[in-house]
Amino acid sequence: MTRAPARAVIDLDVTGPTISRHLYGHFAEHLGRCIYGGFWVGEDSGLPNEGGIRLDVVEALRALRIPNLRWPGGCFADEYHWRDGIGPREQRPQMVNTHWGDVVENNHFGTHEFMALCELLGADPYVSGNVGSGTVREMSEWVEYLTRDGESPMANLRRAHGRDEPWRVPFWGLGNEPWGCGGNLRAEAYADLARQYATYCRDQSGNTLYRIAAGASDDDYAWTEALMKTISCLSCGNEPRNYFQGVSFHYYTVTGPWQHKGSATEFDTDAYYTTMVKARKVEEIIRGHAAVMDVYDPQKTVGLVLDEWGTWWDVEPGTHPGFLYQQNTLRDALVASVHFDAFHRHADRLSMANIAQTVNVLQAMILTDPDSGALVLTPTYHVFAMNTAHHDAASLAVHLDAPDARRDVGITTLETLSVSASTKDDTALVSLTNLDADEPATVLLDLRGRTVTTHSARILTAAKLQDHNTAAAPDTVTVRDFDDVTPDDRTYGHGLLIELPAHSYATVELQLA
Ligand code: AHR
Repeated sequence: MTRAPARAVIDLDVTGPTISRHLYGHFAEHLGRCIYGGFWVGEDSGLPNEGGIRLDVVEALRALRIPNLRWPGGCFADEYHWRDGIGPREQRPQMVNTHWGDVVENNHFGTHEFMALCELLGADPYVSGNVGSGTVREMSEWVEYLTRDGESPMANLRRAHGRDEPWRVPFWGLGNEPWGCGGNLRAEAYADLARQYATYCRDQSGNTLYRIAAGASDDDYAWTEALMKTISCLSCGNEPRNYFQGVSFHYYTVTGPWQHKGSATEFDTDAYYTTMVKARKVEEIIRGHAAVMDVYDPQKTVGLVLDEWGTWWDVEPGTHPGFLYQQNTLRDALVASVHFDAFHRHADRLSMANIAQTVNVLQAMILTDPDSGALVLTPTYHVFAMNTAHHDAASLAVHLDAPDARRDVGITTLETLSVSASTKDDTALVSLTNLDADEPATVLLDLRGRTVTTHSARILTAAKLQDHNTAAAPDTVTVRDFDDVTPDDRTYGHGLLIELPAHSYATVELQLA
C-alpha cells in the first residue's frame, strides 16, 4: 500500500508558551550504581575525578546542558537523614538502603558532594526532602544549612564543614511517592503534611524555593485534586495559596506485570508497539492532571512536575535485582522522543520533568562498566543531545495531518508519527519521530510566516529496534547527518519533504530571516 505523505503545517511567527529547559531535567538516586560507581568513584579512584566525582560522566552530561538534577531519591529520599552525609567521610554513620538491594550505604556521597556535582555540571540542584521518616525540623534545618548566609546554627555548621558561602537551591521536593514508599499516606493526610513542611522550608538569604508537593502515580487525578484543593477551591477565581509552587506526578513506561516487565534488548515487534502505546499515553495523563489543575488554578500559577519518567524493564541478566540496571536500545530513544513532543505541547503547565535515572539505572543516559570503568552513551542520551535547542525556546504548534500514520495495536490505535517544534532567535527546531517498525514515513513540512534561509538535519536510527551501544561497539546507535530533506513547492509556505526511515528520530534545524 502506498501511503499518502503526512503534512505538518507550522506557523513560524505564531509562538506559544516557552518550553522550560527544566523539562530536560534529570534524576539521580542512591540506587544501584547511579551514585556509587556512576557519578562517584571517590578521590582515590584511578579514573579521572574531581574530589571523587567522575569527570568523564560530567563532561558527557555537560554536553546535554542538563538543567537540574533531582537527588537523593526517589524512595531513598524518605529514608535519608542529611546529617549522616556531612563531615569527614570515614566518620559518617552507615545505614541500610532497604529499598534498593538492602545494601549498606556509607554516606560518602552527601550534601557537599551533591552540590559540588551540580556545580561541575552547571545544573540547578533539586533536593528531595524526607517527609516519610524525617521531621519538619530536620527538613527546615537542611534548607538553612544549604541556603542561609550570615550567622545561624546551620550556616555555622556548614562553615565548620568547609563551605563558607551558601549555595543556591531553587528546587525543593516535599517527600516522594507518599502514597507508597514515602509513607503509605492517604492523599488528604499528605496534602496537610505538604502544607506543614512547606511552611518551614523558608526562603532564606535571597534564595527562593520552588517547593514541589509529591504527587500522583500515573493517572491518579484524585491525588492531584486533593493537593489542589488544599491550596485553592473549586472555580473560586482566587490564586492558590502559595505554600507549594509545583505538584508532581510519576509515570513510567512499563509494559506487563511488575514480575515480568520484559527484557530491555530482547523483544518482538508486538512488544515494541505495546511499549509505544504506553509511551504515548503520557500525553493523556499530562492532559488529565493539567485539566484538574486548571479548575483550581486557572491562571496556571502552580507547575505540573513529572519528576520521574522513563522505561522500566527487567534488570540485565546476572545483575542485582535491586539495582535496576538495564540496557537501552533504539526503542528507549523513541520512547524519549515522543515524551518530549508531549512535553513541548504542554509547556503552559508542565514546568519540569526528570528522566529516571541519569547513570546506570532504568532509562539512563550513560552506562558504566563496573570492572573496566568504560563509559557508554545510550541511544536516549542522543535524543537529549539532539533536542538542546528546544531548551527555553518558544513552542510552535504543529498541525499534523497524517491519516495513514497509524497502526492497530490490540484494541487501540497507535499514531506512528509525532512532530513538535520550537523557535528561538532566528532559528527553529522541528523534531520528528517515525514509530513505525517497518515502514518509512514521508512528511511534507509546510513552514509559514517567516522566510527559511537554510536547513540542516540529523537522524538517530539503527538497523534494528533492538540495537544498542556497548563498550565494544559504542556507536551502533548514534547521531548522523541526514540528507533526505529536500525543498518542495507543494505548500503555501516554504516546503521541505522529509523521508523518515522506519523507526527513526530526526531533527531539522531551520535558519530564519
Ligand atoms: O526510580 C526508581 C523508583 O521509582 C523511585 O525511587 C521511586 O520514586 C519510584 O517508584
